[in-house]
Amino acid sequence: MALIFDTHAHYDDEQFDADRVELLASMPQNGVGLIIDPGCDEDTSRRAVALAERFPHVYAAVGWHPENCAPFVPEDIGALRELAKHPKVVAIGEIGLDYYWAENPPKEFQQDVFRRQMALAEELGLPVIVHDRDAHADSLEIAREFPNVRGVFHCYSGSVEMARELWKLGWYVGFDGPLTYKNARRTVEVAAEAPAERILIETDAPYLAPVPLRGTRNDSRSLVHVAAKLAEIRGATAEEIVALTAENGRRLFRIP
Ligand code: NI
Repeated sequence: MALIFDTHAHYDDEQFDADRVELLASMPQNGVGLIIDPGCDEDTSRRAVALAERFPHVYAAVGWHPENCAPFVPEDIGALRELAKHPKVVAIGEIGLDYYWAENPPKEFQQDVFRRQMALAEELGLPVIVHDRDAHADSLEIAREFPNVRGVFHCYSGSVEMARELWKLGWYVGFDGPLTYKNARRTVEVAAEAPAERILIETDAPYLAPVPLRGTRNDSRSLVHVAAKLAEIRGATAEEIVALTAENGRRLFRIP
């Protein structure tokens, strides 16, 4: 039985304060073999690294999320660079653009923070974990500006046409709980067409629990439902999807 690789879960989040240690310790016996916890600012990046130090099956990514980047100053790249040298840091993330919330930092500022972190990923030879919400064209443009950087568009919500561009550039797409929601028509199309070697599964825990757990606190065990949905869409078995996505995750994030 293949073990699930959840390439995106925020176990540093306060929603896990009551049971974080027990929950993470129980993951391997519950079918989850690997987890990446991406930070959203310097503090959560440090917490992600601390969890990665504590649990052999947990890895970390470090970065400033577009929704959290208002306090970012260029000098903050130095702290990120130091954190990223930790052997269990496998990516720069969660970085990107979020034009959905009006209270987010201005677009140009988000783009600047995103570019600086893409440059850091290039410098360190690390992949990236990209958050793109209602910012598809600008996110793709910035990805193109860094042809030496690869990564995943996490919780992919763009068009099939954009996904084809990303696959051509060597990027991956991540599928989360929303793939199981009723309105997922476009994401289902992307999931059907995606090359097998470019698919990842992720929770974005504690958010985005899949059907039939929608509305509850999400954790990595729920990925059986995302794998089952992908299996249905692609004419495979859930077991094959779990094995395939784990292999893809190990390749992108260079985990032996
Ligand atoms: Ni996230």
